[in-house]
Amino acid sequence: MSGVPESAPVPPGVDPTTPSPARIYDYVLGGTHNFPVDREAAERIRAQSPDLADAAWVNRGFHQRAARWMAAEQGIGQFIDIGSGLPTQSNTHGVVQKVIPRARVAYVDNDPMVLAYAGELLSDDGTTAVINADLRNVDAVLDDLALRALIDFERPAGLLMTAVLHFVADDAGPWGLVRRYAGALAPGSYLALSHVTYEGLPPRLVEEGVSVYTQARGVHPRSRKQIERFFAGLQVAPPYPGAEPAITHIGVWGADAPELADSDGSHWWFGGVARRP
Ligand SMILES: C[S@@+](CC[C@H](N)C(=O)[O-])C[C@H]1O[C@@H](n2cnc3c(N)ncnc32)[C@H](O)[C@@H]1O
Repeated sequence: MSGVPESAPVPPGVDPTTPSPARIYDYVLGGTHNFPVDREAAERIRAQSPDLADAAWVNRGFHQRAARWMAAEQGIGQFIDIGSGLPTQSNTHGVVQKVIPRARVAYVDNDPMVLAYAGELLSDDGTTAVINADLRNVDAVLDDLALRALIDFERPAGLLMTAVLHFVADDAGPWGLVRRYAGALAPGSYLALSHVTYEGLPPRLVEEGVSVYTQARGVHPRSRKQIERFFAGLQVAPPYPGAEPAITHIGVWGADAPELADSDGSHWWFGGVARRP
């Protein structure tokens, strides 16, 4: 799969000489919004961690199943997708609008490449917006006029923070950031969150994989307990019918056959879905 054509102009603010998480992820998912430097970085990670593509797809599947569940089972018709990534197959609005045709989605990402290719994330009917902001600046995100035009904070919303918080260092207070976002939403809102872990992975793989990836940008894998803390004060949903409410490896979340879905790539992650009481 090839990336951005060499002849295409580089969008403003985009540095094609330094790998970016959004473009690496895009490449691993088979997208075309990436440069040679991203593909090389991804291949270095893959050389150490052959489960890379499985892990990426497991996460994307969790994101989609969680969003669909919020719309279909909880009637949620508005979403804030933070760290949304580049347009890919089945973007969030494509998933939830199959259930609720005029569901609204505010996409938020700090990579200028996402804004540059926003056209593919924007629906024709004004139900989506793309906001270029850093999630660490909670006020800038929540006060953004385009976001405010789409999201009614008096009604339950879906907050999607998948595969993004491991890009936020401890000293930026990721747990407090999630608390502020969830706290800004109406009771009955839902949070879906996935996060890279180092628990259960061979230490060599973690060290080498992370050190390659950190050339793109700091990655902060966390323990299960640290990831569970993101859900403090929220009511965690069972990952599938009949299961106890819990944070799990995300392959099993909402899976038809949880035991089959718990692949090696699933073990890169913990996550879950929870309701704001
Ligand atoms: C691995 S992708 C995940 C995409 C999507 N959420 C998913 O799970 O399929 C991580 C995304 O988070 C974005 N990101 C990283 N740090 C961020 C920050 N501080 N503020 C906003 N977005 C951020 C990256 O630009 C990238 O697009």
